[in-house]
Amino acid sequence: VNAADPLPTPVQALTGTRPALGRPRPWPYDPECSQLVVIDHTSVPGVPEILRRVQVESERGMRRVRTSALFPAAAEVFAEAGFHPIDVLTLLEIDLSTSRATSASSNAHRTRRLRSSEFAAAADLDRRAFGDPWGNDAAALADICSATPWHRARAVSVRAARRLAGFCLDGRAGQIGYVQRLAVDPACRRQGVGRALIDDALAWMRRRGAIRAMVNTGEHNAAALALYESIGFRRRAEQLTIMQLDLPAT
Ligand SMILES: CC(C)(COP(=O)(O)OP(=O)(O)OC[C@H]1O[C@@H](n2cnc3c(N)ncnc32)[C@H](O)[C@@H]1OP(=O)(O)O)[C@@H](O)C(=O)NCCC(=O)NCCS
Repeated sequence: VNAADPLPTPVQALTGTRPALGRPRPWPYDPECSQLVVIDHTSVPGVPEILRRVQVESERGMRRVRTSALFPAAAEVFAEAGFHPIDVLTLLEIDLSTSRATSASSNAHRTRRLRSSEFAAAADLDRRAFGDPWGNDAAALADICSATPWHRARAVSVRAARRLAGFCLDGRAGQIGYVQRLAVDPACRRQGVGRALIDDALAWMRRRGAIRAMVNTGEHNAAALALYESIGFRRRAEQLTIMQLDLPAT
């Protein structure tokens, strides 16, 4: 899921001529699938704009088109254009001004910078952590980093093997922080790696003046929901949807 980029603003219909969809992105590890990304969460594409994009993707030989995570108003329009939901995400947020920071010394794991030269290894971990078709490749991880004006990429290593145990990509736009991607190697779970990475992310956001942090995760992802709620995130009422349209062979 690439689209942990929700803005908590109400979505409004787009009335001008400005396109609401960005350039289609390749879906990682699936050469016959592309992703339509709603660039701005304050706008909703119209059905004609969606269908024009679908037509182009079909002519390029794509067999399916998936969306980024959509707020309800955008999801409704994609449904009108023939798309069906393939994943529903719960949106959570934490108030950074009232919630308490965790001290670094109480974490069992030290975090460090995730270098861009490690994105291939991180992508490999990401794919094992999320499973197909949700794993990111290195290019998608780099895209996630550039989705917000500021970002931070952190890792925890398995000390002896110097292998990645987990990583977290975080973003910040103004006073809102976003946990964009968190993945822990299945062999390293329930050892506090995920918590250390989130504590580190929230501490960075607080230091930089963020007042609120947001994250989304699959509505049935019990491990992630338990982790975020144990830290103080609260579920928001609205859910996000990822949708798909299957295309006939041309
Ligand atoms: C979600 C995930 C990041 C958790 O990482 P982790 O390193 O295993 O988590 P931690 O060991 O730090 O766990 C911290 C707390 O989260 C909760 N938790 C974690 N895994 C859990 C599980 N499988 N079931 C229930 N609660 C769980 C617990 O409250 C846990 O505290 P405890 O161990 O003291 O009970 C990991 O399972 C993962 O990578 N999953 C696949 C990818 C994913 O879902 N990413 C995040 C969503 S976008």
